[in-house]
Amino acid sequence: MARVLLLNGPNLNLLGTREPAIYGTDTLESIEKRSAVLAREAGHEFLAFQSNAEHELIARIQKAPADGIAFLIFNPGAFTHTSIALRDALLGARVPFIELHLSNTHARESFRQHSYFSDIAVGVIAGFGAFGYELAMRAAAARLARGA
Ligand code: DQA
Repeated sequence: MARVLLLNGPNLNLLGTREPAIYGTDTLESIEKRSAVLAREAGHEFLAFQSNAEHELIARIQKAPADGIAFLIFNPGAFTHTSIALRDALLGARVPFIELHLSNTHARESFRQHSYFSDIAVGVIAGFGAFGYELAMRAAAARLARGA
């Protein structure tokens, strides 16, 4: 049994109504519920946190090791393309993580094509909409099964 934390960054609280043609119509609540079921089925404990504030995400990442979090699934939202501070928090916490995006950021505006996280992530999932969260949870469980 391991503890997995799903972290979502800015504007992802608006999923369901936010640009549905790009991000789909599933709400964050329904995504978190589905992820929790998958985590439990794989024998893991699931936690979720969303914030629009960079400092709150940093604080949550800093606290992750003390909270016994073994794996992170992280959709940093627009901070993907801007936040060296979140990158440094992840490097400091040394908790393995999957970078996740609903949209295929590589097929969008050029400013979305650089990520401060991809090179330090275990892996990246992008472009599968809400299903990506399910893929990420399954990938996390597979990693945890072999010691993360
Ligand atoms: C996103 C992609 C980002 O570029 C954007 O700023 C988001 C959502 C995604 O899930 O596709 O807020 O991370």
